Amino acid sequence: MAFEADLAKAHAARSAAELVQSGMIVGLGSGSTAGLLVKRLGERVAEEGLEFVGVPTSVSTAELARELNIPLRDVDDVPAVDLNIDGADEVDPEYRMIKGRGGALLREKLVACVASRRVTIVSPEKVVPRLGIDSPVPVEVSRLGYRHIEQRLRTLGARTSLRRGPDGAPFVTDGGNLIIDCGFSPLADPDTLEAGLKSVVGVFETGLFLGLCDVLVVGRPDGAEQIV
Ligand code: 5RP
Repeated sequence: MAFEADLAKAHAARSAAELVQSGMIVGLGSGSTAGLLVKRLGERVAEEGLEFVGVPTSVSTAELARELNIPLRDVDDVPAVDLNIDGADEVDPEYRMIKGRGGALLREKLVACVASRRVTIVSPEKVVPRLGIDSPVPVEVSRLGYRHIEQRLRTLGARTSLRRGPDGAPFVTDGGNLIIDCGFSPLADPDTLEAGLKSVVGVFETGLFLGLCDVLVVGRPDGAEQIV
């Protein structure tokens, strides 16, 4: 099963990598599927002389891209992003997504929002009939006051859990913030929930990505399908 999911991710990544053309400014997502994309783009740089500028959405993506000789810029140093390619944790039939299991949601959303075209690359089990049944919504919050913020999130109906790293210490994002994973059963209306979560002082961003998927690439063990 894990092997099939990995193969599906690789096919999705490979298919999306073909959308990148020389001269483009490309948002590079975070996570294992986006990592496969970056590796494929690195191959295209080495084999075909593909020339593009990457805008990384996390420290780990930047490190990987640098190893592969992909030139990078920060989002503030580019006028616009032509194409953004990123993974997701869940995608519903309206192409709304939950992202942020890897903790890079703030930068991922910033880059997605300034991109002209947003491509999501997933393995098939990420395509769900309804958001939030299996995945909590990650919410990036201020370190200062996080206990109070968590309390406020609970009043919105969230079952909250402060994310921790493998060492048991609170997980700290690239931006120096904390993540509170918020479970909702059910997650009734993503737009209303997003507005409610963003109304809490100290919430920087949520893992609800609404209206940020223009092309969905679903990988399968034997290929990939692009849905526009
Ligand atoms: C990181 C993300 C990732 O894109 C998402 O978690 C999917 O990761 P993977 O490709 O490893 O399943 O949002 O913040």
